[in-house]
Amino acid sequence: MLVLGLESSCDDCSAAVIRETPEGPKLLSMARKSQDEIHGPYGGVVPELAAREHLLQLRGVIADALAKADLPLKAMDRIAVTRGPGLVGCLLTTFSASKAMAWREGIPWVGVHHLLGHLNAARFGAPDLPFPALALLVSGGHTHLYLARDWTSLELLQKTRDDAAGEAFDKTARMLNLGYPGGPIVDTCARKAAKAAAPFTPPKFRDGKASWSFSGLKTAVRLRIGQEPGLDAAGAEDPRVGALCRSLQETVASWLLKPVPGWREETGARSLVVSGGVACNSELRAQAQALAAKLGIVLAVPEPRFCTDNGAMIAAAGAVLAPSDEPLSLNADANLPL
Ligand code: KG4
Ligand code: ZN
Repeated sequence: MLVLGLESSCDDCSAAVIRETPEGPKLLSMARKSQDEIHGPYGGVVPELAAREHLLQLRGVIADALAKADLPLKAMDRIAVTRGPGLVGCLLTTFSASKAMAWREGIPWVGVHHLLGHLNAARFGAPDLPFPALALLVSGGHTHLYLARDWTSLELLQKTRDDAAGEAFDKTARMLNLGYPGGPIVDTCARKAAKAAAPFTPPKFRDGKASWSFSGLKTAVRLRIGQEPGLDAAGAEDPRVGALCRSLQETVASWLLKPVPGWREETGARSLVVSGGVACNSELRAQAQALAAKLGIVLAVPEPRFCTDNGAMIAAAGAVLAPSDEPLSLNADANLPL
C-alpha cells in the first residue's frame, strides 16, 4: 500500500510517500519546507504568517515528494493528513487540499491525530515494538506521557501543568540571543561544553503526584542569566553559555524521564517510545537509552527527521487507521481529542 502523508499543523509544511509492507513502513520520499526564517525574528511561530506560508508552500512540497518517489498522485492507495490538534489556519490549508485531491482522484482518505503521528514515527525503526508501550511525546506544544496499547491508541497518563519542554529550550535560546528554534542550538552549545553549570532544582508538587512543570525553569534560567553580566550577549562560543545550556538539557531530560519507572511498574509496559521535536535532543536520547537498559524494556526513539513534525509520521499513522467514509463532511479541529 502506498500512502501520501501531509502535515502542516504548526510551522513545518511536509509531505511524504511511504510504502506500507508486512515488515513495516518504508519511506520512499519526504519533502519539507521550514519557516524558521519567517518566524525567527519574532522568537516563536506567528499563526497567521504560518498559515499563509503553508498556502504558498503546499503545492510545491506535495509535487516534490511525489517527484522524489517517482510516482503520480493517482498511484497512491491512501492520503493521510493531520486533522488536529494544531493551529487551525495551518491545519486547514493541507486538510482542505487533501480532501480535494482525494475526491478528484477517488483515493481513500484518512484524518490523523497529530500525536498518533508522533507515536507512529517509531514504526520506521521499531515495527515490532512490544506493547503496551509508554509514549513520551515532547515538542514545542506537548509534554505528555501516554500508554499505547497498540499503534492506534493513546491513553493519557500525565502531562505538563504549564509550559511544554520545548518551550524551555526555545525561551532559553531567546534569552541568550542564540536564535530560533532554540532546541537544536541549545543542544549544539551543550555538546561543546566541557562542563555543566549547577543543576536546577526540580519543582515540588503539593499533592505529591507525578507531574511536570517547566515554567519555573524558564524563570530560573532568566535569573541565572541576570546574575552574570553580559551573558545574554556572550554568544554560543562562550563557555558559560555552553555550561548553562548543558545544565538546562540535563535537567529537562532527567525531569522528563523521572516518572517513567513508576508508570512502568504500574502499567506493566514493555517498551518506551520517545518522540516529538524534543526527542532530537542528544542528552534526552542518551538518558532514555540508559534508563531503558536499566529497566529492561525496549526503547524506540525515531531518527531525528521523524521526530520533528513531518509527513512520514502522518503517512505511517494513516496506514494503520481505517480510512474515513465521508471525508468531505469532516473538518480540521484545533483541539482534536484522542
Ligand atoms: O514536534 P515539533 O517539530 O513541533 C511541535 O509540534 O511543536 O517540535 C518542535 C520543538 C521546538 O520546541 C524545538 O526547539 C524542539 O522541538 N527541538 C529540540 C531539538 N530539536 C528540536 N529540543 C531540544 N533539543 C533538540 N535537539
Ligand atoms: Zn508535533
